Amino acid sequence: MLLGIETSCDDTCAAVVREGTILSSVVSSQHDFHLSYGGVVPEVAARQHSRLIVHVTEAALSRAGAAWPDLDGVAVTVAPGLIGALLVGVAAAKGVCMSLSIPLVPVNHLLAHLHTAFLAFPDVEVPHVGLLVSGGHTVLFLVEAPGEALVMGSTLDDAAGEALDKAAHLLRLGYPGGPALDRIAAGGDPSAVAFPRPMADRKGLDFSFSGLKTALALHVQRHGHPPTDQATADLAASYLEAVVDVLVAKTTRAAALAGAKTVTMVGGVAANRRLRDAMSAACRTDGLRLCIPPSELCTDNAAMVAALGEVSLGGDGADLSVDACAVIRMARWNGPGADGFVISRRDV
Ligand code: KG4
Ligand code: ZN
Repeated sequence: MLLGIETSCDDTCAAVVREGTILSSVVSSQHDFHLSYGGVVPEVAARQHSRLIVHVTEAALSRAGAAWPDLDGVAVTVAPGLIGALLVGVAAAKGVCMSLSIPLVPVNHLLAHLHTAFLAFPDVEVPHVGLLVSGGHTVLFLVEAPGEALVMGSTLDDAAGEALDKAAHLLRLGYPGGPALDRIAAGGDPSAVAFPRPMADRKGLDFSFSGLKTALALHVQRHGHPPTDQATADLAASYLEAVVDVLVAKTTRAAALAGAKTVTMVGGVAANRRLRDAMSAACRTDGLRLCIPPSELCTDNAAMVAALGEVSLGGDGADLSVDACAVIRMARWNGPGADGFVISRRDV
């Protein structure tokens, strides 16, 4: 039985997993603490994790019907993420491992997200192309096995979720804006305003979303705040369509370049209805199988961390030498059409 701990951003998460089965998964959102700031404040996140981590971990154990001595190890997210936030989870995991003399399994948050496809679709074939699209990350991977993936492309600036959140903020739709934008865009005309499709015509697989956010800001500056609900919906739908177009084009291109027959989509933004519809249609056209895990697995959680930890569990003592790290460098795919040596500011 493995305990998983995840504190890389603003959710305090713990879960218990046994042989690929999730026995419990507890997520305590800090949403309300960051609301008034309009975004996640790293210092606030770290403090909240410290307050919550013991309660969340005990709740995960009790919901799994487990006690501390039942644990065979602790898997914890060590990178990438907010360093202060990560440190709380890593310190907690080390404490448990030290007192129980059980192994500590360090987990890469991005690989844990990708692992949710294996949890939700045990028959998912490899290699497959995995799009991780969340508030902190937008990365295309070639997934070769559970816990093994190469970066095919990633954002050079903002993540797609961040671009949606910032747009929603600009349109005064609230925080976090992604879900609100999703709702409002559903009633809008996606062709009302012609937004750029950043890097869509470039050969490589990297993304850039910061220019799109600027295009929206300039539009609002020039034309003023949309005067009606319908005008807001049209603007939101047009903006969302630009983000979706680029994500879909690059993902299907990645599958074609890698010769993959399956695409998985994970991370919080995978909940977006327009993105799901557009990705499904494009995959159908290209004869690709599309696997999207349920939303409780797509957003940050510790079940994905514990489940990936099971894959790499080994050794018989707590290795407490591991450290948290804000940034992680991952190997890049080097096949035809690869971006070569573009190193992203984020993610890698
Ligand atoms: O994976 P996640 O819960 O947290 C991390 O960023 O790691 O993803 C959160 C992101 C936020 O940017 C949020 O606005 C976005 O996912 N999101 C959505 C939707 N639900 C969540 N974006 C668009 N449409 C949605 N339905
Ligand atoms: Zn995440």
